[in-house]
Amino acid sequence: MNSTTLKSAAGAAQMARPAPTTKSKSDEFVRIENVVKKFGDSTAVNNVNLNIAKNELFALLGSSGCGKSTLLRMLAGLETVTSGRIFVDGEDLAAMPPYKRPVNMMFQSYALFPHMTVEANIAFGLKQEGTPKNEIKERVADALNLVQMGKYAQRKPHQLSGGQQQRVALARSLVKRPKLLLLDEPMSALDKQIRQKTQLELVNIIEKVDVTCVMVTHDQEEAMTMAGRIAVMSEGHIVQIGSPSQVYEFPNSRFSAEFIGSTNLFEGVVVEDEPDHIFVESQDLEARMYVSHGITGPLGMPVGISVRPERVKVSRERPGTPHNWARGVVSDVAYMGSYSLYHVRLESGKTVVSNLSSSHLMSEGAPAYNDDVFIYWSPSSGVVLTQ
Ligand SMILES: Nc1ncnc2c1ncn2[C@@H]1O[C@H](COP(=O)(O)OP(=O)(O)OP(=O)(O)O)[C@@H](O)[C@H]1O
Ligand SMILES: [Mg+2]
Repeated sequence: MNSTTLKSAAGAAQMARPAPTTKSKSDEFVRIENVVKKFGDSTAVNNVNLNIAKNELFALLGSSGCGKSTLLRMLAGLETVTSGRIFVDGEDLAAMPPYKRPVNMMFQSYALFPHMTVEANIAFGLKQEGTPKNEIKERVADALNLVQMGKYAQRKPHQLSGGQQQRVALARSLVKRPKLLLLDEPMSALDKQIRQKTQLELVNIIEKVDVTCVMVTHDQEEAMTMAGRIAVMSEGHIVQIGSPSQVYEFPNSRFSAEFIGSTNLFEGVVVEDEPDHIFVESQDLEARMYVSHGITGPLGMPVGISVRPERVKVSRERPGTPHNWARGVVSDVAYMGSYSLYHVRLESGKTVVSNLSSSHLMSEGAPAYNDDVFIYWSPSSGVVLTQ
């Protein structure tokens, strides 16, 4: 037998550390079926299947060139699919004429018209559609209120901060009352501090409106802060879909584990497989690894074990547990404010990162640079990865 199966009840892990559930938003609004997009010989989007519920804020996350914008552009109807189908609100997008598509996209570089006031920028799309003047006035005022930019209505874009311009761009998208709002790297023009503030503002605004939102980002913190669910993409594929905590706590592959946050990845082989745990032997650890959840498989199967830095403990004392520990030397300590990052070089040569609270660092007997130490973690802290 060389197949792998998830342990019962979706992994014993879920018993030890239940994966949080997302809000139950059951009614499907977007359905992406076997979608492929090729440009000549190269495949930008490779057989993507995805359902997005009404009023969800969904993030496509992945590194540059993995196909995020292309998928979003197909949702907007700006790019045709090479094969597969996309349904929005039950209707096949390909069969819908562009003006009937209930979709609005905010582009990766959301240029506002520099010579127009904020108000005129927001009104622009409605004017083009021939919306009656009174209605334009009302809707622009509502949109300005929504993004709290009412008092800046007469300013020009260059008289606004980056975050304010961003909100105007959002108002310009929302004023058309799209059912599906597509945001391509909405924060890309902002520096880090404004970015974090704007992320939360944007979520608040979107939650006030009856809209389903798909956003694209290559910034995992941004996806985790803003989205209810995330699809991790790599080379045109979707690697994993889940809530931020599901993807972080239960990565399904080495790619996901390393892409979302940082992790310690140990390679080993299965040496014992029990219903509620497995033992793995790794060259990096003196003790066997005992993992209480994840995937079970045949003896000798190569697996990766992912252990997040905040789950790795560092001590000068040998841990009481017979499993999940190794000897090493503290090779670096970086003080980060509320926490400190320890780098521990194991006898195998591998460096393990541990994230310890700085209050722990201040306590008596805390390990210091160049100390001989032990690293260890609990059986529920590791995740078994077979891909
Ligand atoms: N019009 C096009 N013609 C040819 N190739 C394209 C075209 N648009 C995109 N591609 C290619 O498709 C792949 C995916 O591009 P896409 O713009 O979707 O990436 P992305 O994930 O949005 O990246 P980024 O984070 O850099 O914006 C890339 O290899 C890109 O070069
Ligand atoms: Mg892009």
